[in-house]
Amino acid sequence: MADPQDLWNRVDEWIEGRFVPEDSALEGALTAQAAGGLPEIQVSAAQGRLLELLVRMSGARSVLEVGTLGGYSTIWLARGVADDGRVLTLELDPHHAEVARASLDAAGLADVVEVAVGPAADTLRGLTERFDFVFIDADKPSTPTYFTEAVRLSHPGTVIVVDNVVRQGAVADPASSDANVEGIRGFAEIVAHDPRLRGTAIQMVGRKGHDGFAVVVVGE
Ligand code: SAH
Ligand code: DHB
Ligand code: MG
Repeated sequence: MADPQDLWNRVDEWIEGRFVPEDSALEGALTAQAAGGLPEIQVSAAQGRLLELLVRMSGARSVLEVGTLGGYSTIWLARGVADDGRVLTLELDPHHAEVARASLDAAGLADVVEVAVGPAADTLRGLTERFDFVFIDADKPSTPTYFTEAVRLSHPGTVIVVDNVVRQGAVADPASSDANVEGIRGFAEIVAHDPRLRGTAIQMVGRKGHDGFAVVVVGE
């Protein structure tokens, strides 16, 4: 049988060719990220487009991102936000933040996006403003902490998206006690036990293998 990853790559290419418009700012961010030696672990183009659409569908004016890397997903989030909207993105690594800021400047988004450098848990604890949309995509063991803070900073209707919730299926493998997987499980337990939170997770295959997004809406 053909390698399923080859097929998933070809289908992602097909999707990109039809649904994901060419965007020089996004391409520039990927080029700058590679030139800066950052890991190539950004969301896929089709996933980034989905983030744009989810932000747009939610009518969000304020977006919070945890885990900036080179700003690729940040640009997608900013593409979806309302005209007077704002994105705050949190990044631990000063070099990643510098690469991201340069790409966001080049994209004309310097006035829309703020990059806050430092451990995200510390930055989050210092925030009090409410966000309409949150994307969590940093170190996976801390996902329960980031999610708890995101809920604290939410209002009824806030949408919270979490990346990497499937991990090639490891999340459902009882033999896996990897810290990254445990982080995702911990987040899922929080959703399962809080009746205010309506959520689901969708498995995805594509350029990034077998993984997925969780989507949670905060209720009254
Ligand atoms: N959202 C990005 C990818 C993020 S990769 C995209 O799709 O384009 C994960 C990022 O989280 C990395 O840049 C890493 O440096 C950052 N990170 C890791 N630990 C962190 C922490 N404790 N606080 C904030 N950011 C962290
Ligand atoms: C890794 C992190 C991510 O956020 C991702 O989407 C894919 C891979 C990683 O740390 O390997
Ligand atoms: Mg990710």
